Amino acid sequence: MASLKRIGVWDIQLGMVIVKCDKAGVPFNEYGRPLTNLGYIHSLHDYGVEYVYIWSEQDGPKDEKKPEEKTVPKGTEFKVNKEDDVNAILLSAATELVTMLKENFTESMAGLKMGKAIDAPAIINVVSDIVFMSNDNPEVFTKIALNEGMSKDDYTHGLNVCINAVSLGQAVGIKGKELHDLGLAGLLHDIGKVRVPEQILNKKANLSDYEMAALKRHPEYAGQVLQRYNDISEDVLNIIYQHHECCDGTGYPSGINAQYILKPSKVLAIAEAYNTMLMYSPEYPRAFNNTDAIKKIYAEAGKKYQADIVKTFVSIMGVYPVGTAVSLSNGSIGIVCETNKMDQAHPKILMMHKDNPSNIELVNLKTHPNIKIVKELNNTELNINPFEIFNSFLKSRIAYQVEK
Ligand SMILES: [Fe+2]
Ligand SMILES: [Fe+2]
Repeated sequence: MASLKRIGVWDIQLGMVIVKCDKAGVPFNEYGRPLTNLGYIHSLHDYGVEYVYIWSEQDGPKDEKKPEEKTVPKGTEFKVNKEDDVNAILLSAATELVTMLKENFTESMAGLKMGKAIDAPAIINVVSDIVFMSNDNPEVFTKIALNEGMSKDDYTHGLNVCINAVSLGQAVGIKGKELHDLGLAGLLHDIGKVRVPEQILNKKANLSDYEMAALKRHPEYAGQVLQRYNDISEDVLNIIYQHHECCDGTGYPSGINAQYILKPSKVLAIAEAYNTMLMYSPEYPRAFNNTDAIKKIYAEAGKKYQADIVKTFVSIMGVYPVGTAVSLSNGSIGIVCETNKMDQAHPKILMMHKDNPSNIELVNLKTHPNIKIVKELNNTELNINPFEIFNSFLKSRIAYQVEK
């Protein structure tokens, strides 16, 4: 159903059709045709226009087919050897915090697409929580969050980039206000995409040169979108501006090399690229699994990314992060439940028995040399959601551990 949608003048995007503005007598000649130049925003603003009304065909309920929910099989039972048990309370607290922060962040950003302000103080609180939690237990928190990062929405992407950037930033010695700025830049790094036409953002095929150029302007647009918020400092805007710059000068928007790129931006670039590879985007048309994404980042050490920061990144990510689904040499599927720092190829896994997937056993691969990990599985290849299984396992263990 078509309707008129009111949006803020700074939220106008290329391709939108403006049919009306909030002031009478404004000499604007582009009514009723798709906007081809964002320069008009400035003239509208100069005439005191705050809001415009755009033609919208997409309001109302969409008839999209939702992907099938992948839930835990009914009657699932978990078998645990006492000596292999995990600290379910700690793991569960981290997953719950991630879920809560995701809700808070999504809510704070809700106004953005309707031309309203975002809730900057609430967003800053989300960053403080992440910095605090990351201090406490960086590894658990990062890995859990990143494995949940398969979700395709922008807010989850922002949150995961933030979490990953804060942990990596801390590990390479960034602290205090600079760490907080890095976290905030991580959350909001792609906010400039609200000014890039949706058809470009959603395009499944290769982008044309023109479309790629439009997409590559999003770090610059971020400054325009965020400049009205006093709580968001220029330092944050500068980190965001450089999040796609590369150490070898092949990045954008300025194409500068390592010596002129801020350290937090170098950290953010790695966190961003890693998370982008895990989900579909025009830059990476094929979603990678964790292992392949880490390998790809590693291959660019000393080129796109600063070598010593990449080294730290690889060491904090490990080989099989928590939540990774793997196929096992006995034909079963496993979900990594706890990494083994001294021997990363042999984590603790939740093994779903081949013949009875609702019979799930916690197995320490270190003490079961006969079972080997064959390869990491992509979440899209599975008919289960590894995180549902993982969370359901944690719940059952908490019930047991609290009782004890
Ligand atoms: Fe991004
Ligand atoms: Fe970006």
